[in-house]
Amino acid sequence: MSKYRVAVVGVLGAVGQEMLKTLEQREFPISGIKPLGTATNTGRAVGFAGESVSVEQAKRGSFKGVDIALFSAGADASLELAPIARDEGCVVIDNSAAWRMDDSVPLVIPEVNPDALKQHSGIIANPNCSTIQMLVALKPLHDLFRIKRIVVSTYQAVSGTGYKAIDELENQMRQYCSGDPITKSVYPCQILLNALPQIDVFLDNGYTKEETKMVEETHKILDPSIGVSATAVRLPVFRCHSEAVNIETERPIDLGTAARALASQRGVKLVDDFRRGEYPYPLMASDKDDVFVGRLRLDESVKHGMNLWVVADNLRKGAALNAVQIAETLIEMNII
Ligand SMILES: NC(=O)c1ccc[n+]([C@@H]2O[C@H](COP(=O)([O-])OP(=O)(O)OC[C@H]3O[C@@H](n4cnc5c(N)ncnc54)[C@H](OP(=O)(O)O)[C@@H]3O)[C@@H](O)[C@H]2O)c1
Repeated sequence: MSKYRVAVVGVLGAVGQEMLKTLEQREFPISGIKPLGTATNTGRAVGFAGESVSVEQAKRGSFKGVDIALFSAGADASLELAPIARDEGCVVIDNSAAWRMDDSVPLVIPEVNPDALKQHSGIIANPNCSTIQMLVALKPLHDLFRIKRIVVSTYQAVSGTGYKAIDELENQMRQYCSGDPITKSVYPCQILLNALPQIDVFLDNGYTKEETKMVEETHKILDPSIGVSATAVRLPVFRCHSEAVNIETERPIDLGTAARALASQRGVKLVDDFRRGEYPYPLMASDKDDVFVGRLRLDESVKHGMNLWVVADNLRKGAALNAVQIAETLIEMNII
């Protein structure tokens, strides 16, 4: 089997660290790892496959001899460095929002639209974490019942904002327990013991950018004819986003058929038994690869509709795992 030299850009971030872990756990065929960060990170050590490797600054020249570059350093870094990396000969798989809506860039969830990879020209985008888990769950239901409209409310973990937000929640927990004043710098309000209906910035129509991403990315990945209405909320949870998803469909829904399709969908774990009080929650999905689905109910307020509850680890399937699976799919399809 061929082996690949892999760079991880933004390696010291929340997603970058998860990428190293995911590559190791999945025994990705690696001939060499190149951890890249900012100038201030240069020389710091990261562990990979039992070895200590020094972080280098990501810059022009960093990608020569690299086959695959996994980017998770934010949109500004991706806008500047992804074309450089592509021109230096590697395939870029980018976690930021920088390239997702570019027509020449495939936006891919391997369980949903792997064939889009055939059109890649050096840069491939990983969708937003909230979109990934929602569409992994909805793909088999769309195939069966044709979804017309999605109404989704998210309950998102602080790790979705990066390592500084994880630190902020930890600090606020300590401050609360010791009776000290609560300080904040990442979120506009205290996140501890709170729920903030703002993820990313507000746009002119009153929706946030996160909510808009869920609409636009669903259209690009699954079906442009589906109506999508989203409300995204940040909670004081460390890992895993949860989503209450309501769908309206063209065809009548049979709950048993829906449950069987979900149970056999690659990447989904169905946990759904209300009589025994069984449903997914963040601590169940934490550090796991699957998208967990439960609380299946018919929506009795419309002709054909249903509700479901979808939970997944945002750092794993929502970011690092999906990116590594894209790389694995490129290898399987012989397009790298
Ligand atoms: N967290 C999630 O659940 C999630 C899910 C999907 C997508 N994403 C996306 O993935 C990206 C990273 O997210 P994150 O949560 O890992 O953020 P993070 O924890 O803040 O980490 C970002 C890392 O990138 C580094 N970095 C910044 N500019 C760089 C540059 N020019 N060159 C090299 N490294 C650079 C940062 O270094 P410094 O600390 O020195 O600045 C930091 O180590 C973002 O675009 C985010 O939107 C995140």
